[in-house]
Amino acid sequence: MDTSQQENPHFPIDFVPAERRIATLAEDVRAGLLSAPRWLPPKYFYDERGAWLFEGICEQPEYYPTRAETALLAANADAILQTTRPAHMLELGSGSSRKTLYLLDAAVRQAKPLTYWPFDVTVEMVRHATSDLVQRYPELQFHALIGDYTGGLGGVILPDEGPRLVVLLGGTIGNFEPDMAVQMVADIRDRLDVGDSFLIGFDRIKDTARLEAAYDDAVGYTAAFNKNVLNVLNRELDADFDPDAFMHRALYNADLSRVEMHLVARRGMTVTVGALNQHIKLHEGESINTEISRKFSPEGIDDLLASGGFETEYRFEDAASDYALVLARAV
Ligand SMILES: C[S@@+](CC[C@H](N)C(=O)[O-])C[C@H]1O[C@@H](n2cnc3c(N)ncnc32)[C@H](O)[C@@H]1O
Repeated sequence: MDTSQQENPHFPIDFVPAERRIATLAEDVRAGLLSAPRWLPPKYFYDERGAWLFEGICEQPEYYPTRAETALLAANADAILQTTRPAHMLELGSGSSRKTLYLLDAAVRQAKPLTYWPFDVTVEMVRHATSDLVQRYPELQFHALIGDYTGGLGGVILPDEGPRLVVLLGGTIGNFEPDMAVQMVADIRDRLDVGDSFLIGFDRIKDTARLEAAYDDAVGYTAAFNKNVLNVLNRELDADFDPDAFMHRALYNADLSRVEMHLVARRGMTVTVGALNQHIKLHEGESINTEISRKFSPEGIDDLLASGGFETEYRFEDAASDYALVLARAV
């Protein structure tokens, strides 16, 4: 970690170097937009505007995962902290850290020294969220990390003392293709010792109508979030996408147990991506896949965790089994 880049007097913020080479935005866009079918990686949704739009999605009545996970954390945070007794808690894709408050409150109630390490790709969000946390919890320590977890976690150096807990909420593991999800779980296991803990949220398989509604809210937050990736490409790669020329579409692919988000061209068009020196022809109805969100069965959850070196210890679920919060132990 490069500690020379500390930016805030109240808590350290480090930029985590990638362990494996990460494709640049230009490389990802070249690979994804020029292939058939076309795709874009979801991490580019999250510029500052995208990160706040995601917060808006979480408030929508159709988006049950946030409510379900919040309720599970509220009900079980004390037990989770009692079981894991972490000295260090690393949260990947921490975003606003809003749900994490339940875990931090439990840590304070148990009066155990804890350092919280939020890790996210969106600098503004981490800085903002951690500044609030520092004021809210004078009893705890904070160390913010900025990085891209798809490049591995070898650059995350947690101090040796005390048990560790890694947290991955929001069903974010579902955004990875199966082989990448296994890699992510293995990367997390590599940061831990035997007996350390991993708390991870999984969205469960359920009926298509509810799944599709969750990714297509009536107010249009998800549509705006989806189209925001085109604003990112316009700004960063000198492209000329007209976001209004695309429709947001969310479909549940039951064969692959995943919701797919697409941007569908409303008309034929040619888009220029200046930084790539490319003119891309899209025909009416052609779609760009911008995100997958995989849904899990209990067996799928256990298998994924086992493949990375974890054993499921508890699976907390709501009465309807909409969502699972799983506490796993490194073995
Ligand atoms: C689905 S949101 C979940 C946010 C929060 N944990 C929650 O449960 O509400 C995914 C979060 O991961 C972050 N993220 C996405 N891709 C990332 C990457 N490659 N590396 C690090 N963080 C990433 C986003 O900025 C965002 O905050």
